[in-house]
Amino acid sequence: MTSDIISPKELSQMDPVFGQASFDDHEQIVFCNDKDTGLKAIIGIHNTVLGPALGGTRMWKYANEWEALNDVLRLSRGMTFKSAITGLNLGGGKAVIIGDAKTDKTPELMSRFGEFVNSLGGKYITAEDVGMTTEDMDIVRNVTPYVTGISESKGGAGNPSPITAYGVFMGMKAAAKFQYGSDVLEDKNIYVQGIGHVGEALVEHLVNEGANVTIADINQERLEEVRSKYGVTIYGGSDIYSEPMDIYAPCALGATINDKTINRLKAKIVAGAANNQLEEENRHGKILQERGIVYAPDFLINAGGIINVYAELENYDKQEIMRKTENIYNTTLEILDNAKVNNITTHTAALNIARERIETRKRENSK
Ligand SMILES: NC(=O)c1ccc[n+]([C@@H]2O[C@H](COP(=O)([O-])OP(=O)(O)OC[C@H]3O[C@@H](n4cnc5c(N)ncnc54)[C@H](O)[C@@H]3O)[C@@H](O)[C@H]2O)c1
Repeated sequence: MTSDIISPKELSQMDPVFGQASFDDHEQIVFCNDKDTGLKAIIGIHNTVLGPALGGTRMWKYANEWEALNDVLRLSRGMTFKSAITGLNLGGGKAVIIGDAKTDKTPELMSRFGEFVNSLGGKYITAEDVGMTTEDMDIVRNVTPYVTGISESKGGAGNPSPITAYGVFMGMKAAAKFQYGSDVLEDKNIYVQGIGHVGEALVEHLVNEGANVTIADINQERLEEVRSKYGVTIYGGSDIYSEPMDIYAPCALGATINDKTINRLKAKIVAGAANNQLEEENRHGKILQERGIVYAPDFLINAGGIINVYAELENYDKQEIMRKTENIYNTTLEILDNAKVNNITTHTAALNIARERIETRKRENSK
């Protein structure tokens, strides 16, 4: 997690909270402790100008508290901009639980966590993230209404991954329109790295469109399964970044665009589902721009999941969810054009529009 980029030693030399590397004027940070269940959690509320801070809960074996705090600061900030750029009336928040989801998670711990969420009176609304399941959210729902991503049988919106994949597909088509003058992906060579919940659903869209899809994953079984289902090619090499391709779709881990990979990249477009694809947003965004590689900002094109969750709060039907997700195409094109006109990176263009929306609402709210 965060310590991949900043060492725990460096983190511990910064001021405990307000001086942390990822602190960005967060409104509220709540430390939660419960001796009986062993719960140690941090809830980060970055910004609530547009609405309640919504973002998932991540349970992870953080090496130390610094790492957990930085992760929640970074992730909650990301949620603010993701919701703002998508036009949702939501702020940005996130929670982390320190521990191993496989061995430390109990129904009692989740229930106690839910009580802490409830104590914030709706300022923070939680959802699923790494280490969490729909069943965990159902437990949280027993003690607070401020949770989304619960089972469909309990009124939830269900699995967000197919919607996320559809949004990524829309963003990718918009990037193709911008780069090649046509959004048709037929015969384009597309590499999908990570064929999990989102990656597989993306592969299906791409295959239906007639693209030449190559898949990569560390899980051999998944590779065979997806190949036999869609007739795609499994990547057999050891340096995916250097492969000649039209589009690189990172759908596994973050930070795959980094100093080691960026100059090897042959793709003309980067568009995928993974969060935080650029290890260093500004510097790596700039290098992609200079190399003529179109980068569809991750937090914009992977917003289908949050749209799905928002639907649960607003009682949208499936049609409305799909319509809003399809609109990622228009927003992506708008941002790519904006970046070109202003000679800034696409990441910065997206951030500027998100920030502007928040500032406008702030001004309206203060009238
Ligand atoms: N699920 C959603 O709705 C959603 C929404 C927004 C963003 N995302 C992001 O999209 C990405 C994929 O999400 P998901 O739900 O499909 O996750 P997942 O866990 O279902 O799938 C991830 C896949 O990546 C593979 N993988 C892991 N490390 C790899 C590596 N080094 N090289 C190649 N493959 C590797 C895993 O084996 C797995 O098949 C994540 O970064 C997630 O944060 C997901």
